[in-house]
Amino acid sequence: MKIFSNILDMQNYTLTLKRQGKRIGLVPTMGFLHEGHLSLVHEAAKHADIVILSIFVNPTQFGPNEDFDKYPRDFERDRKLCEDNGVDAIFAPEVADMYFKDCSTYINENKLSAGLCGARRPGHFQGVCTVVAKLFNAVLPDIAVFGQKDAQQALVLRRMVRDLNFPVKMLIAPIVRESDGLAMSSRNKYLTEEQRRNALAISRTLFKAENELKAGRKDFDAIAGEISATISASGGRVDYVEILDADTLELPNETPRGLLVAVAAYYGATRLIDNIIITVDGQE
Ligand code: PAJ
Repeated sequence: MKIFSNILDMQNYTLTLKRQGKRIGLVPTMGFLHEGHLSLVHEAAKHADIVILSIFVNPTQFGPNEDFDKYPRDFERDRKLCEDNGVDAIFAPEVADMYFKDCSTYINENKLSAGLCGARRPGHFQGVCTVVAKLFNAVLPDIAVFGQKDAQQALVLRRMVRDLNFPVKMLIAPIVRESDGLAMSSRNKYLTEEQRRNALAISRTLFKAENELKAGRKDFDAIAGEISATISASGGRVDYVEILDADTLELPNETPRGLLVAVAAYYGATRLIDNIIITVDGQE
């Protein structure tokens, strides 16, 4: 397995392989890998000849009072997981190599990023779009795989790729959960045992809502209120609970193709996000 930190070396590696007709798959991550990330690696391997995983804790997507400094990092552990899971190369640049000190070009998606996490984390999606565009330019992938875990991020990045004509096929893979339902996340490491137990309220109440919505319940505000109440009763502090059109992130009209139930909640200082998507014919 190759490891690159230099952008030019990374580009030369993929350019050489592309000239040989190889399809390049990219899985962008911030590291501290778990089964959710690895599921994206396996998905990429189905569609590409070469799988590259990037590890970069991107400072521009963290707010001033967020967890950039204490975001968990363990390169050696990540390297081993990548090797064991068939990754061909890791791209792990330094912040100083990714961002010029006087960098003044950023990408903004202005519609899908407006609500949910975008509304609560100003500048977050500007940072995400900019870094993913830069990762695309460094790695030059034919396909890129993202997780449904970050539902809004997946939609925003798909829109960026469409609007800016990136020649990258975007694949979105399902949420991987712990056996008790908790959505896997690098940030779960912050939770105490008690907080982790309490946080199961999020997936439990989402699954309940999923069943009710599939059964035809249409009182979205009441359902969102019940989800909120369950999370609060478990000791969580709700940031948002919203039921939206899964394609547009607008309030659902009479005949949405799909519904997104999206939750963000704090347990202690740890902000967790989770969601479910219900397609109208009832299939996930
Ligand atoms: P990170 O949080 O490390 O996640 C990397 C990718 O893994 C994202 O596409 C995310 O949706 C996916 N992922 C995380 N947990 C998952 C789970 N439980 N099941 C399935 N997929 C999961 O998201 C980011 O990093 C960054 O914003 C990034 C896109 C790398 C840009 O910096």
